[in-house]
Amino acid sequence: MGTALADQYLAQRFAEIRSSFPGTAAGPYLDVSARCLLYSGARKAFDAYLDQNGDGTLDKKAMFKGVERTRELFARLIHADADEIAFTRNVTDGIATLAASLPWKAGDNVVLCESLEHPANVYPWHGMVKRHGITIRSVGQDAGHIPADKILAAADARTRVVAVSSVSFAPGFRLPLAELGAECRKRGILLVVDGAQSVGAIDTDVRALKIDVLATSAQKYMMGVYGVGFLYIRRELADTLEPVMLSRFSVDLGNEHEGSSGDTSAYVLAKGARRFDVGNYNYPATLAAAESLQLLLDLGPKEVETYVCGLTREFADRMMELGLPVYGGKSNLPGSPIVTVGKVLSTDHDATGDNDMMALHDFLVANGVRLGVRRGLLRFSFHLYNNRADIDFVVDLARKWLKTVGKAAA
Ligand SMILES: Cc1ncc(COP(=O)(O)O)c(C=O)c1O
Repeated sequence: MGTALADQYLAQRFAEIRSSFPGTAAGPYLDVSARCLLYSGARKAFDAYLDQNGDGTLDKKAMFKGVERTRELFARLIHADADEIAFTRNVTDGIATLAASLPWKAGDNVVLCESLEHPANVYPWHGMVKRHGITIRSVGQDAGHIPADKILAAADARTRVVAVSSVSFAPGFRLPLAELGAECRKRGILLVVDGAQSVGAIDTDVRALKIDVLATSAQKYMMGVYGVGFLYIRRELADTLEPVMLSRFSVDLGNEHEGSSGDTSAYVLAKGARRFDVGNYNYPATLAAAESLQLLLDLGPKEVETYVCGLTREFADRMMELGLPVYGGKSNLPGSPIVTVGKVLSTDHDATGDNDMMALHDFLVANGVRLGVRRGLLRFSFHLYNNRADIDFVVDLARKWLKTVGKAAA
């Protein structure tokens, strides 16, 4: 297929996909960064599970097979192998499980930019301070950007981990990870990434970026439901770790049934990140996630990124043309699925003290726009079911609001 034809085909596919998200009918949904609209394919899988549960026809073998399909699809999405993926409940679970399983020595340190990290990537490290006598070195932000240079400057011979978000929950800037990853690998420091706001929208190649650990969850850009998280641990690292919670799924049972006994004390750990699986899975949510992952893979992760970031760039440009304070202006590059609007990045988690921004927020909500407020900013987050009509809708409303409050720029 020629490029123009391929582009046309993709545009058509994205347009069709919108109808698989019934929630789009109620107006622009721009709050993926909190949670996504549920994909109808995922809902079907979830419903099928509940039906079988109700009928008494659930089949454990099929459930396990479904779990492995999900593991395989997530691995493909981030360019990893299935053995490098463990299932968790959420991002915090993934990061805390990893943190608790690392062989710390008192005096080791973790470097991060605490003011821009979600608590999911902060508290698990503080937990290790108390337990193992490590220290946390938090560097300051650069106007909303996680500063890779400051992080590397703060790291020393006792740094075990650099912990970052690939896209911050606010102001939603994307951190170029490749350089940070290369430098961390060179210095023997583990790069731990919170991918909650990127994986699913941003093509993420853990090998190329030299990411050692990545934690994410299903309910945002993977278009699933709460309760399922994914933990990638690079094979070479995972194989050296003792899981903090040993379970029957952490050990290699060969072809035995999960419940078989024998000499349990002579257990052998499962290969790679599988040793971090703990007991039965959240089957309905895990099987549902497979359908969303399949959709992302069918479309192509790079194509999804190009489409979503095309929308956010256009949206940011048009809001700026109206004179609205898009946070970071055009500096929000490389592309991110998030655009934030407001002048001050504050410390409030989900509120803003800026009366103008709150008034704009309320006006948009009253007119059917779903968006978020984080750290003092209005947060607009896009995914593959959004389109230019959503942008037009919000920009027209913003223009109207500016006129009514006498601040019209256009
Ligand atoms: C960057 C980031 N990390 C993590 C989370 C969620 O963490 P958890 O899944 O542990 O609740 C969010 C949002 O909810 C987030 O924006």
